[in-house]
Amino acid sequence: MSKFAALAAIVAAAAVANAQSLNVVNKCSEGVTIFTQTSYGTIDNNVNIGAGASADLNISNNWDGAVNVGTGCNGSQCTTGGPTWDGQTPFSRAEFNFWAVPGEVTYDISLIYGYNVGMEISSADASCDAYACTISSGCPVPGPDNSCYSPCCSSVSACSGGALPAGGGGCVSNAGPGPNSPFYYNTCTNAYAFPDNDGAAGYTPADNVDYTCGNTAITLTLCPGTTSNIPK
Ligand SMILES: *[C@@H]1O[C@H](CO)[C@@H](O)[C@H](O)[C@H]1NC(C)=O
Ligand SMILES: *[C@@H]1O[C@H](CO)[C@@H](O)[C@H](O)[C@H]1NC(C)=O
Repeated sequence: MSKFAALAAIVAAAAVANAQSLNVVNKCSEGVTIFTQTSYGTIDNNVNIGAGASADLNISNNWDGAVNVGTGCNGSQCTTGGPTWDGQTPFSRAEFNFWAVPGEVTYDISLIYGYNVGMEISSADASCDAYACTISSGCPVPGPDNSCYSPCCSSVSACSGGALPAGGGGCVSNAGPGPNSPFYYNTCTNAYAFPDNDGAAGYTPADNVDYTCGNTAITLTLCPGTTSNIPK
């Protein structure tokens, strides 16, 4: 191998190690539609993923945004979830920030809009925290298709204006716990059960709900069937 070829191989290996990617693996028994929302950069949106299938969402460098899952969808009409930021029906959300520091990604699972499918966020570097949440029973305010309404809502009608309208929709000042946050933070300690569940503004419990990983090859697995419990 020439010196140049050797160098090129090293550069290629480094490029692979630093590639930013977001793959969604659908382990659910039904197809889902992935609705994405972006603060920075670009990503594929309105992506249908069949049961057992997976999709590369083709994020741009340093994408920053969220992935909402829709179930029972026909176009943008879904049984749960949907294309709006504060959906009227429950949905699980995965949030990512590849933008703040190039080469790193911060991620979390947010249940503040409710829950419709289980999620796991993992990195190619297994030493990074892999967060997983599966809710199989005990939901305080059940919704369609085995979903569960937002921890901020004490009833279905309390969520009719959205899970987090101005004022928090039942979550204290759009920051602190809502009436059903304890169910969520007791069931899935590594997922947001209220907006400041990370301990911001002194709210408790301050759980281990967001993580920054130095490996940006990320997999979002839907219906992983597992729940993590990694302490802060
Ligand atoms: C991502 O890009 C690849 C290559 O262009 C394409 O085959 C794939 O369909 C894209 N993914 C989605 C979800 O559209
Ligand atoms: C999806 O919606 C379209 C337009 O309303 C309708 O014609 C079609 O039958 C629907 N498909 C399914 C599978 O429900």
